[in-house]
Amino acid sequence: GAAELGPYRHYMQKEIFEQPRVIGDTLEGVTGIMPELFGDGAYNVFKQIDRVLILACGTSYYSGLTAKYWIESVAKVPVNVEIASEYRYRDSVPHPNTLVVTISQSGETADTLAALKHARSLGMEHTLTICNVATSAMVRECKLAYITRAGVEVGVASTKAFTTQLAALFLLTLSLAQVNGRLSDEEEAGHLKAMRHLPVAISAVLALEPQIIAWAEDFARKENALFLGRGMHYPIALEGALKLKEISYIHAEAYPAGELKHGPLALVTEEMPVVTVAPNDVLLEKLKSNMQEVRARGGQLYVFADVDSRITSGEGLHVIRLPEHYGLLSPILHVVSLQLLAYHAALARGTDVDKPRNLAKSVTVE
Ligand code: G6P
Repeated sequence: GAAELGPYRHYMQKEIFEQPRVIGDTLEGVTGIMPELFGDGAYNVFKQIDRVLILACGTSYYSGLTAKYWIESVAKVPVNVEIASEYRYRDSVPHPNTLVVTISQSGETADTLAALKHARSLGMEHTLTICNVATSAMVRECKLAYITRAGVEVGVASTKAFTTQLAALFLLTLSLAQVNGRLSDEEEAGHLKAMRHLPVAISAVLALEPQIIAWAEDFARKENALFLGRGMHYPIALEGALKLKEISYIHAEAYPAGELKHGPLALVTEEMPVVTVAPNDVLLEKLKSNMQEVRARGGQLYVFADVDSRITSGEGLHVIRLPEHYGLLSPILHVVSLQLLAYHAALARGTDVDKPRNLAKSVTVE
């Protein structure tokens, strides 16, 4: 009821603001990296596998895509990420030494459960889930599990479940790296420190809300938007576009910025806002030249840049600065700014934010 909402107007806004706490809860008690974080016997499983297959739907699929970047770069284990409703019906080439990872907020999504069963029927027995509901079918069906502690998520558009999934997937990345001899004690300590600092870092992004509201008011008048990202922030651009379309009904598409020239550049006019996720990483210079391509065609850039990246506002270029560059965990910070943008654009359009038309919180039928 209204009392539970406290100072917030919608559950989605409340859930966005709960993220510092629930990320802390999800990582609570993690004082060191070890496979057993995922259950008894995880060490033996992680030793045996030589590849990962991630199965999920919706927002959970995008956390899986982000994890692919992490796991391949840090643990050096090849990863495939598949949309559950596709995987369950396509002919694929199974491999017994696969760690099958399902990701699900509810643990009851019919397609993801069916994809898991399909993988198992193909002889893949090493199963692990990242799930927010400990009593769900998904947790019962998988041998290993990490339960995220996002708490009950009411808003149909997932927010805190996503960032807690990312936190859990980062632990999985580090655990796989450790088993493969790719995590030194110093690296482990550094990553644990960065994880412990996440609640504070996320709070600093939440404090950008007033600036994001000003942008959202511009967005509310548009019918289309493009989201750009590169590397591990490409899935974050996808998630930002999904959030915007789900709750504001603005048509939004995400592209890896390097792919602009192969199509979406044709859509860019003064009427097209282009949201750019611009962390200060090795791809920043490349991203800046992609931004120039947009600007040269009159597109309006809305850039979420890190504090230390030299991008300054100007004609057709709006910049909001995130307080710090956060290395590998940067996607967790950047997505929060996109959640707020979608929320406030929807609010400005007066849509039913917590219950968008035609969508359900949990899709338990095919
Ligand atoms: C629905 C929800 C999404 C969610 C997706 C997968 O579409 O509206 O927010 O990402 O299902 O749900 P799951 O519970 O498996 O993560």
